[in-house]
Amino acid sequence: MCGIVGYTGSKNAIPLLVEGLHRLEYRGYDSAGVAVAGPDGIGVHKTAGRVADLRRVIPDGLSGAAGIAHTRWATHGEPSDRNAHPHLDPAGRFAIVHNGVLENSDALRKRLTADGADLASDTDSEVLAHLIARSGASTLADRVRDALSQVEGTYGVIAMDAENPGELVAARRGSPIVLGLGEREMLIASDTAALVRFTEKVIYLEDDELATVTAEGYHTSTMNDPGGTRSTTRPPTALEAGSIDYELGEHPDFMFKEMTEQPDAVDRCLRGRLDRRFMSARLDGVGLTPREYQQIRRVKLLGCGSAYYAGQLGAELIEQLARIPADAEPASEFRYRNPVVDPETLYVAISQSGETLDTLAAVHELKRKGGRVIGLVNVVSSSIARECGSGLFLHAGPEISVAATKSFTNMGVALALLALELGRVRDLSMADGRRLVDGLLAVPSQLTGILGTEAAIAEIARKYAGAEHMFFVGRVRGWPVAREGAQKLKEISYVHAEAYQASELKHGPLALINPEMPTVVVLPDDDLLAKNLSTIEEIKARGGPVIAVTDADLPPGVVTGVIRVPRAERELAPITLSVALQLFAYHLAKTLGREIDRPRNLAKSVTVE
Ligand code: G6P
Repeated sequence: MCGIVGYTGSKNAIPLLVEGLHRLEYRGYDSAGVAVAGPDGIGVHKTAGRVADLRRVIPDGLSGAAGIAHTRWATHGEPSDRNAHPHLDPAGRFAIVHNGVLENSDALRKRLTADGADLASDTDSEVLAHLIARSGASTLADRVRDALSQVEGTYGVIAMDAENPGELVAARRGSPIVLGLGEREMLIASDTAALVRFTEKVIYLEDDELATVTAEGYHTSTMNDPGGTRSTTRPPTALEAGSIDYELGEHPDFMFKEMTEQPDAVDRCLRGRLDRRFMSARLDGVGLTPREYQQIRRVKLLGCGSAYYAGQLGAELIEQLARIPADAEPASEFRYRNPVVDPETLYVAISQSGETLDTLAAVHELKRKGGRVIGLVNVVSSSIARECGSGLFLHAGPEISVAATKSFTNMGVALALLALELGRVRDLSMADGRRLVDGLLAVPSQLTGILGTEAAIAEIARKYAGAEHMFFVGRVRGWPVAREGAQKLKEISYVHAEAYQASELKHGPLALINPEMPTVVVLPDDDLLAKNLSTIEEIKARGGPVIAVTDADLPPGVVTGVIRVPRAERELAPITLSVALQLFAYHLAKTLGREIDRPRNLAKSVTVE
């Protein structure tokens, strides 16, 4: 949520900053700007719109050896030129870029205004530039400390001073900051996507840490220890992903690229984790002994958006395979309802980015109450992964498109592994264990099969692209598939899609069925097939078109459109069926001419409440 970049070194900062912003654009894309130090002080160039629009407003030949830049996802203040970052203090000496939300910004704005300050924007962030300028401290680092000691909320921030422009100061609380080390040059960014072409050596700032960065090196320290600040400077670590992972290559967009990567992504997620001797899973990262697995009485899965739906899919798998109660809950709600945290429950925090603030806050709440929480996270160095300390990495590789695809699939696979292990230390038989081990190993080729039917799925999607509304329905294990399918369609096509349990349709939503309202029915070939076929008949009887996504052989004429996927083990079918619905949403959105990777109003990593 909001991308920030800083550069100091001997090269021209502008192209590096703009390229960094371009790579961070999936974090927010409603306005963008740069501040660069020149002979006449700090020059700021910013505009509403995309990074491509920013390129147009930067004067030709503009150059400077240090600068900061920002791509925004609006929280306080509409997307506009004046609300775009960077923000300056009134004298134009200090510039800041900020990611996060300052919760007491109204009070601070009032205080500053009463004191004669003239605020140029409606943002919460601008107060930081004013507070930094008003601080009496002698160094930029101490000015930033002073300013941040007055704010409540979250921040990843970079500040620069026109009087010493080669030195940048960055600090974090709740919003990530990573430093990239080069040869006599340094970059700062809100995530590694901006750094991959520049360096392989990085330092991840911890919460309440501050970094002072020059071309020559860096120094990190605690923000505001009672007894003064303490140095925390440490050597860099190696970046996990290479720049190729962030390139589009031949693909039309990242969503397509990431969908096609799914067979390999699943393969990586399974590698070394299947145990053929015990027909179980080997999950070293979870760090539990068989006895500890046995002592788990309940599993609670927490995540937001697609990660929450993956959690629901996982809860179903766990209950079926391990016969222990499991349920999923939106992480965004968890901490506000004063949850009962039970020592015999295993809590699982699920997140692609590992930075979703609501999920991170749920982890904090759990840890504060003594809960045992593991992470199911894609980004290895992320806050949630580090905060949980144990769990399963998804190994999906970097995911750039806002709509989750391969990360969702790998969440399903990782949860199937956890369910298998929980089951095998209980009553799940060796034979069922073998069936699932083989079933999991077959998923990559099943996904290749689905990707091979892309043209047929695209044809169905084109046929229904004129619909204004759609229902997605499924029963039991089909229900999270329906929810994720509807979510995907909403996100990228803006077609109104509602997911219901198929059994609930008759309790109200059926009133909306008519020939203009298609229903996508998730139809696994399981013991509920007959019930789902009855639902289809009820919809057809009211004139509603039905699209079935299924691994069952349907007699002709039962539905108006069929998306047929290869047959998977019944517990794993939600994973394969979901991939077919990704392709459906993708092609429907394409038909409508939508911008696939950057849907309106959304951002990939939501690091604000
Ligand atoms: C945002 C994205 C969703 C994503 C959710 C959780 O809302 O737009 O696609 O599912 O965040 O993200 P996470 O990184 O925690 O999986």
